[in-house]
Amino acid sequence: MAKIEKLDGKSMDIVADNIEKLKEIFPDVFTEGKVDFEALEATLGEYVEGKEERYSFNWNGKAAARRIAQTPSTGTLRPAPEESKDWDATENLYIEGDNLEVLKLLQKSYHKQVKMIYIDPPYNTGKDFVYKDNFKDNIKNYMEQTGQVDTEGNKLSTNSDASGRYHSNWLNMMYPRLKLARNLLKDDGVIFISLDDGEISSLRKICDEIFGEDNFIGNIAWKKTSGDNKPSFAFTHDNIAIYGKTVNQIPRVPLTKKQAKQYKNPDNDPKGDWAETDYRSKWSKEERKNLYYAIINPHTKEEIYPDTYSNTTRVWACSKETHLLNAQEGILWWGIDGQSKEPKKKRYLSEHKGANTRSVWTDAGTNDDASKEVKSLLNGDYFDNPKPVSLLKRLEIIMLQDNDLILDFFSGSATTAHAIMQLNAEDNGSRKYIMVQLPEETEEKSEAYKAGYKNICEIGKERIRRAGEKIKEENADKEGIENLDIGFKVFKLDSSNIKAWDSESDDLEQNLWDSVENIKSDRTSDDLMYEILLKYGLDLTLPIEELTLAGKKVYVVGLGSLVICLDEAITLDTVEAIAALKEKYGSDDLMRVVFRDNGFKDAEVKTNAIQILKQFGIDDVKSL
Ligand SMILES: C[S@@+](CC[C@H](N)C(=O)[O-])C[C@H]1O[C@@H](n2cnc3c(N)ncnc32)[C@H](O)[C@@H]1O
Repeated sequence: MAKIEKLDGKSMDIVADNIEKLKEIFPDVFTEGKVDFEALEATLGEYVEGKEERYSFNWNGKAAARRIAQTPSTGTLRPAPEESKDWDATENLYIEGDNLEVLKLLQKSYHKQVKMIYIDPPYNTGKDFVYKDNFKDNIKNYMEQTGQVDTEGNKLSTNSDASGRYHSNWLNMMYPRLKLARNLLKDDGVIFISLDDGEISSLRKICDEIFGEDNFIGNIAWKKTSGDNKPSFAFTHDNIAIYGKTVNQIPRVPLTKKQAKQYKNPDNDPKGDWAETDYRSKWSKEERKNLYYAIINPHTKEEIYPDTYSNTTRVWACSKETHLLNAQEGILWWGIDGQSKEPKKKRYLSEHKGANTRSVWTDAGTNDDASKEVKSLLNGDYFDNPKPVSLLKRLEIIMLQDNDLILDFFSGSATTAHAIMQLNAEDNGSRKYIMVQLPEETEEKSEAYKAGYKNICEIGKERIRRAGEKIKEENADKEGIENLDIGFKVFKLDSSNIKAWDSESDDLEQNLWDSVENIKSDRTSDDLMYEILLKYGLDLTLPIEELTLAGKKVYVVGLGSLVICLDEAITLDTVEAIAALKEKYGSDDLMRVVFRDNGFKDAEVKTNAIQILKQFGIDDVKSL
């Protein structure tokens, strides 16, 4: 008898995924489903490193940190439309929760979807909060940690430099997050990580391991201005370490308006604006004899050698043959009315490949600018150590094309989102963001707390709301500004909506009850619907239509790619109406259907449902 398969409850199984990848490349190293290390070693030839004297970076807890990255999450993301802005249309996400769990939950839906990651994690200064993961039950741990303070109101997890595990604690926090984050990057995606000199050497080592040292792109020294008060040494810059997922280059940057202004078109050249460049090479006559020849000034017909009018040993930039082509093409410039004695070559703006990124940035805004930006938007000093919008904008300009996606999983006051909206307003772009932030509580004596911001997410969300409105207002007369996406969908990390998916319980009676009603009583069908989207690896911002079919609520996700009905007492009328949707949406073999396990009127309807859907070519039917 046909049976409806149950949806698996945990987030993507990363170990299973790794095995699949290995099987794809080296199927012959598997025996009875297990890896034969000797066979693998033989495949890798001389690239195998012996155990002794291996170059490696170790710390207390590294093995556990690796395991933590591979343990599936038992959590989910619950929608919070009431805290969101423009829920129905926006493609931006604001996710509240510990970023480790959130990154795990996003593994399927955002696998290879992100073009750029920017993070500004705790610098481990000895005073800041470093989240402690718990291998056994990280969701419960999250619930405890986000409310946990000691009697003086200090966060229990401040990583004090007196702690014997000071560096290890920080590395244990960073390592699994970076490992998971890498999976979300597109192959040509790049991560930028802000850090001061304190932990940069450790970060570089773990990134060399996670991203591969060949994919280290560079380290920007960003002048943040304010000095530290260490005796006799002022730390006036922060680092931004850059690694590619599989690339070791970042794109060239488009010219700034100021740079582009140097290109003009005094002769109405149909190829557009151009700038003059030298028509000499760096070589001397001795080094390149063939580049020493006479060229004819088309206006005076005079023959000109490289040294006719200049006291130089440098010869022309190209061979005579190429020169004749250049002259024919009209890309040599002899000045207005041909008055120049020597030619220049035209360099067209339209052919410019952009500028290189330099490693020292002295003009990308400062810490002070950043604090003022947040302060003036929120009317108070509510957030320590934000980054300036100009810094983020500059990084985003390098990496993000029109509708690319950026992720910031230590988003703080949400500068990254602010910069995206600003940039989109400037060039009519539709770049999208995912912000992740822990609802880290503000201290009761802080200004933020007194102003009603009980945790940092409240600050981040309010900043995005206000920044978006302000940007729209400032650009009110710009064409297309009405399309600027200043909304965001809020999701909150929580335990799964499904009881059976919680960690193992020994309570048999409870388990039996749970198998009758396995959905937690405080969860809504919207909660469930988004959990299903995550399990199927669908984008959380896909359009969702709500229909009523034979009296039951049915969600149609992504124009028919997934249909979900979580109502109870479903009859065949609803099932038939769902099957008929396939024609309406014209989706070929894409359509999948999910029901509640005990959602059918009786066992007969359940069995017939599968048959009916099959007749319409819908084979992927699951239940929860
Ligand atoms: C230095 S701040 C980032 C500031 C941000 N770049 C800005 O411009 O506002 C680091 C943020 O990471 C957050 N954070 C720390 N641990 C986290 C975790 N496990 N999950 C999510 N966020 C975390 C902290 O609450 C803090 O707000």
